[in-house]
Amino acid sequence: MKSPIAVVILAAGAGTRMKSALPKVLHRLANRPMLAHVLANAAALKPSRIVGVVAPGATEVARAFAPHPTVVQLKPLGTGHAAKAALGALKGHDGPVLIVFGDAPLVTTGSLRKLVAACRKAGAAVGVLGFIARDPTPYGRLIEQDGELVKIVESKDADAKERAVAFSNSGVMCIEGKLIATLLDAIRNDNVKREFYLTDAVRLAREAGHKAIAVAGEEAEFLGINSRSELAAAEQALQQRLRAAAMAGGVTMTDPGTVWLSADTKFGTDVTIGPNVRFGPGVTVGSDTVINAFCDIEGVRIGRGVLVGPFARIRPGSEVADGVHIGNFVELKATRMAKGAKANHLAYLGDSDIGAGSNIGAGTIAVNYDGYGKHRTVIGADVFIGSNSSLVAPLKVGRGANVTAGSVVTEDVPANALAFGRARQVTKKGRAAALRAKLKNRAAALKKAAAERPGKK
Ligand code: UD1
Ligand code: MG
Repeated sequence: MKSPIAVVILAAGAGTRMKSALPKVLHRLANRPMLAHVLANAAALKPSRIVGVVAPGATEVARAFAPHPTVVQLKPLGTGHAAKAALGALKGHDGPVLIVFGDAPLVTTGSLRKLVAACRKAGAAVGVLGFIARDPTPYGRLIEQDGELVKIVESKDADAKERAVAFSNSGVMCIEGKLIATLLDAIRNDNVKREFYLTDAVRLAREAGHKAIAVAGEEAEFLGINSRSELAAAEQALQQRLRAAAMAGGVTMTDPGTVWLSADTKFGTDVTIGPNVRFGPGVTVGSDTVINAFCDIEGVRIGRGVLVGPFARIRPGSEVADGVHIGNFVELKATRMAKGAKANHLAYLGDSDIGAGSNIGAGTIAVNYDGYGKHRTVIGADVFIGSNSSLVAPLKVGRGANVTAGSVVTEDVPANALAFGRARQVTKKGRAAALRAKLKNRAAALKKAAAERPGKK
C-alpha cells in the first residue's frame, strides 16, 4: 500500500501589495477565498493531514483553514523557515509531504498528483513542479543534470549562466517525510536575501546522497497572487476553466467569455446560457433550463425546464421548481416558486411562496418590508394575481383565488375567492368631447396672455 500524503500550505506572507485590510489569501476568486481553492485542490488528493502555516495574529486565516490545524511562523524568515514551523504537526508522518503556497490557487490537483507519483517512481527525496517561464526574472531557476535536479538558485543569487535558464520553480515541492526534518533543519540563511530558502532542500538532499527531480507543468497554473491585477488575471484564468468544465458537462453558452461562474455553480445537462449572465455563490441549475441574456443569479436551486430572463435577478434563499417561468425585469428574493408557476414580466417577489401553476401578473410587488421587519407572502396553487397588484405582507392568498388587476391587497384572500383592492371605476357617457373643448380653450387663453406680456417681442 502507498504511504499517505501530507500537505503543508504556506500562508504566512504579509501580502502588503494588495493594499487591503483583508489578508491576501482570503481575497476571493470565483466567489471563494483564494485559500479555499488551494485547500480544495489539496483535499482532492485525500491526504492524511493538511497543515497551514500562518503569521502571528492571523486568526481569520487560521479560521479559513479549519478544520485543519495551523501553526504559527513567528517571523517571516523565508519559505524554508515557514515549512520548518510545520514539522511539529507532521510528527509520525513518513510518506511524501507536499509543500504548496497559499497564494497560488491555480495549481491543479492533477499536477500535485503527477509530482507525488513521479517522486514515488524515481525514489526521489525531493521533487518540484517547474515550468518554462516567459519571463523567469522573479523565479528560482531549476538547474538540472542528466535528468536529475541538482539545485535551485534564486534569481538574486544566480550567476549569468543560471539566470539564462528559463526552467523555473513553481514553489510546489514534495519532500519525503522520513527526511524532511533533517533537510529543513540543515537550511541556512547564507544568501543575498538572508532568508531560509526552502529551495535549498534540493542541494542538501543531493549532498546527503539522495535524488531530486523536477516535473514540468504549465506556467498558467503557477501564477502567484501579490497584487489586485494578478488577482484579476487569476480570476480570468479560473473563469475560463469553470466555463470549459461546464461546457464539457453539456452546457451551451452563446458567449462563454461573458458568463461569470462561481466555484460551486452546478449544472445539469442541456442547459443554455445567453450572454452576460452572472452566477453568484450557491446556484444549482437543472437540466433543460434556459437562462437568457443579462441575468444575475445567486443562492438558488433552479429546477428542470425552467425559463429565466432576459434581465432577471434571483437573490439568495430562493427555490425555483421545474417548469417555472421567470421573465424580464423580475426579481426574486428568498422566494419559492413551485412547479409551473409563472412571473413573466416586471415583478418583485420577496419573501414569498408562489404555489404550483400560479400566475403572477406584470407589475406585481410583494410588499415585504414595513421599514422595521420583513414579512412573507404565501400564495397557494393555481392563483391568478392581476397586473400591477401590491401584495402587502404578511399575506395569504388561498388556492385558486383571483386578485384583480391594480389591487392593493392587505387582507388574506380565501381559496377560490375573487378579491378587488381598488377604487370602483366611474364612466361618464359622452363627456370626453366636453373635456377636450375645455382643455383646448384653456391652452389658447394661456398662449394669448403670454404673447401680450410687456417686454415680449
Ligand atoms: C518562491 C521560491 C522561488 C519560486 C517562487 C514561485 C523560495 C526561496 N523561492 O520565491 O524559487 O520561483 O516562490 O512563486 O522558496 N512564506 C511564508 N513565510 C515566509 C516567506 C514566505 O509563509 O517567511 C509564504 C508566502 O506567504 C507565500 C510563499 O511562502 O505564500 C512564497 O513566498 P514568496 O516570498 O512569495 O517567495 P518568492 O520570493 O516568490
Ligand atoms: Mg512569490
